[in-house]
Amino acid sequence: MRIAFAADHGGSELRDELIQRLADTGHELIDLGGDGSDPADDYPDVALRLAEAIRGGEADRGILICGSGIGASVAANKVRGVRAAVAHDTYSAHQGVEHDALNVLCLGGRVIGVELAVECARAFVGASFSGAERHARRVAKVLAIEARELGPS
Ligand code: RB5
Repeated sequence: MRIAFAADHGGSELRDELIQRLADTGHELIDLGGDGSDPADDYPDVALRLAEAIRGGEADRGILICGSGIGASVAANKVRGVRAAVAHDTYSAHQGVEHDALNVLCLGGRVIGVELAVECARAFVGASFSGAERHARRVAKVLAIEARELGPS
């Protein structure tokens, strides 16, 4: 699986740490920037870069980090095909994929510690959509809302 990483200045340290720590997963890790060198960067720009990689098929999943994870998730969810959420616990990080087809995990670099963030990221990348009828039905309803709001893809 190809996993894209991006962060604004509020998430750059955690992004660096996660890229290093997830190198042993066997997944292809794609660095979309956010080294913290620009303290005036804006999370919507970062989120758009990562969301477009998901939308365009260059990445299968993303891990997107800002100060709280909130702004990044709000912005990323504006892009068709992106299902982004903040998950600062391991249950939500894997259950979001299994039930809701979450494809972008958002984290708050000012909120969560490194070790828990690594565990959440591992839970996220290790999870697969369940395929259960009830989960597929609910995701299809989400996609119907997306199509209604954004037009057919
Ligand atoms: C940046 O200072 C901060 O506002 C941003 O990283 C994020 O927390 C927004 O949700």
